[in-house]
This record gives sequence, structure tokens and C-alpha cells, in this order.
Amino acid sequence: MSGSIANAFKRAENDASYLDCADLISRASPVDPVYLFCRQRLQQRAHLFLDHFPGQVSYAVKANPETRVLRTLCQLGLQHFDVASLDEIARVANCCPDAELHFNNPVKAEQSIAEAYAHYGVRSFALDEASELEKIGRCTAGDPSVTYTVRFKLDHAGAAYDFGSKFGACPDRAVQLLRSIDALGARAALTFHPGSQCTDPVMYTRYIEAAAGILQRSGAAVRFLNVGGGFPEHYPGTELPAMEHYFRTIDAASQQFLGGTIALMCEPGRGMTARAASLLTRVIHVRDCGVSVFINDGVYGGMQEQSLIDLQLPVKAWREGTPLQGQAQAYRIFGPTCDPVDKLARETLLPRGLRAGDYIEFGMLGAYGSATSTSFNGFSPGSYVDVLRATEFSLQGTSD
Ligand SMILES: Cc1ncc(COP(=O)(O)O)c(C=O)c1O
Repeated sequence: MSGSIANAFKRAENDASYLDCADLISRASPVDPVYLFCRQRLQQRAHLFLDHFPGQVSYAVKANPETRVLRTLCQLGLQHFDVASLDEIARVANCCPDAELHFNNPVKAEQSIAEAYAHYGVRSFALDEASELEKIGRCTAGDPSVTYTVRFKLDHAGAAYDFGSKFGACPDRAVQLLRSIDALGARAALTFHPGSQCTDPVMYTRYIEAAAGILQRSGAAVRFLNVGGGFPEHYPGTELPAMEHYFRTIDAASQQFLGGTIALMCEPGRGMTARAASLLTRVIHVRDCGVSVFINDGVYGGMQEQSLIDLQLPVKAWREGTPLQGQAQAYRIFGPTCDPVDKLARETLLPRGLRAGDYIEFGMLGAYGSATSTSFNGFSPGSYVDVLRATEFSLQGTSD
């Protein structure tokens, strides 16, 4: 594809839609990375949360702030969004004007709180210390309709990330914060986040038990308990209970420790969108007797998490619109930038004989894929197309 045609394709991509990955490769032979978004996949996952989570469902916009994601969720009736910045707030306000926004980044610039309140009607803010509480109070002029959500933490366990290393009040501090909110006559709520990719559902039980203790000691009435995100995805090699098991665990803990009296909320990111998009990359070079493969996207693009946590993505290799078959071999996969860290941490099993011009599709990149992409070294983040049918991947991490 010539440069000008490639650019024309890139410009058109945002509105393009294809039957599936094979159709995209056959018709467009993309030279740049492309995210394949499957609306139906997102709808299925959203229904799972909306129909089975025992409370309100909020979407953590950070996982994927694409308009097509926000619109799809909004059309399904999802009314709550967890936002971390003014940019995320503006995106949701644009796509879902009636949504309730929860500015749940515990540390916010004072100007951001003021603008969120005055221009976007945000009435729900998270905090984990007294000075943030004062900030919110100043920016909202003591408006009694504002909800102050106290975020607390426990010792880290059971998840890929330690979210408590950055945010969260210890239980004693959370008790004090709730009492201060009560004294202001404002509305209070309580939240935690067990850490993203939380593979141990018992963590939610531990947190809900601790939440009950905090509420009892504070004597404060809360609007809701937000159990955060953390709902994990079935990456290859992970053994996980079904999502419904997480919901039942949360429901049981809420009955046991809170008597089922407090409204629950969750705010999934990864668990909502990961499987709704894959990333199609192109092999640009092969060397070292065929075992080192350079592709047009990497850890500065959609695969940043590969450099942060041990996470295996499902993969499939394609040649001219047909899945590559045959005996698998282990490849070292490098991204396109000049940085030596731009490589996948694990070796990847794919059929022998990969060559320049072939494609490698990585699944489960609908969360923390395009959202964390950079333009480092001048390599632009992939753009999106819609596909009617998502690729089915083998969960062994090998190509079919
Ligand atoms: C406050 C908050 N809520 C929800 C999420 C979403 O978490 P996950 O993607 O693990 O569901 C995050 C992730 O960073 C977060 O910080």
C-alpha cells in the first residue's frame, strides 16, 4: 500500500466496519496497527454486569474512553461512570449527557474539582485524606447534594496491581473521614479497589467485612458502598472462577456483614471492555534465524501492560486474510521503537515461518490497550474499526 493510500485508509478507519479480522486484512491490508472493536462482545459483558451484579454498575472510563465504548454502554442503560480527569468527564458528558459522573481519582487538582462541579454537574467525588475533603468542600461551596466517597485500603493481596501503594486511607483514617463528612452535613459513601486483575474473589469479602467495621465505628450513614473494579479477565494460563461467582461472593458478604442494607456499586474497567477489542499488528521484520519478530506496535503502544505485570495475551497469526496453521515455535516479539524495553516479556508461541507482511492479532486489548498508548518515537497509536465478529483465540497462547 502506498503512503498516500495508507494515510487515506487511516483517515477512513474510524468509520470503517468489517465482518471480521480476515475481512479487514483482505480488503484493507492495514500497514498501521488497528483495534478491532466488537460491539456485540461489549454488549454481552455489559449485560452480565447489569443483570447479575447486585447493585449499580458504573464504568471505569480509564480502561477505554473510546466514544464507541461509551455510546454502547450508555445505549444499554448504564448510567454511572467513574472518571479520573476533566478529559474523561468531557467525553462522557458528550456521549451520555444524562449520566451520573463519579470523580473517583482520590487526588485531584483544585481547578479540576471546581470545573467538574460548575461546568459538568459532577456531584460525587472520592478522597482519602482530610485536605482533599476540604478542597472538595471549597470547590462546591458546601453544597449538601455533593457525595464524598471515602476510599480505604487493606494490605495488598490477590491482585496483579497493588492499588493501596498509591491511594486509600487505612481503616482508622476512613472512620475519621466519614465522621468529618457527617459533621459537615454532606452525603457520604465508601469505596475500595482490591487491585486490578483481582484473581481471588475472597478479597472482596475481606474488604466488605472491613467496610462494615468502618461504618459501624464511624456511625455515619452512607449512600452506597462502591466495591471498585478489579474484576479479572481470563488471559491465557489463568484459572479463574466465573464472573457470576464474584457477584455471588460480593452479595453474600454484603448480606453477612452489612445485613444487605447498603446499596452496592461496582466500577469495572478491565472486566467490562478487555474482550471487546483485539489489536491487529503487522510483522515488519524477522531476524535471528526467524525467532525475533519486529511488529508495528509494542509496549509504548497498546501493550504497555506487558512491561508492568506478567500477563499473557491470546494471539493469532494471519497471512493474507487466512489464519496461519502449523507447528508452533517460540518467538521473541519486539515493538517498533528504538527502546530495548519495547518487547514482550514472555516468548510467544505462533506457527513457524512468520515473515514480514504477516499479521499478529493480540486479543483482550479492549482495556488498557489504546487507552495507555503513546506516540513515542513517532509511532502513532492504532486506530479503531468495527467488526461484526470477534476472533476466537486459543487460551493456550498458541495459534490455532
Ligand atoms: C478508582 C478506580 N476504579 C475502577 C478502576 C478499574 O479497575 P479495573 O480495570 O481493575 O476494573 C480503577 C483502575 O485503575 C480505578 O482506579
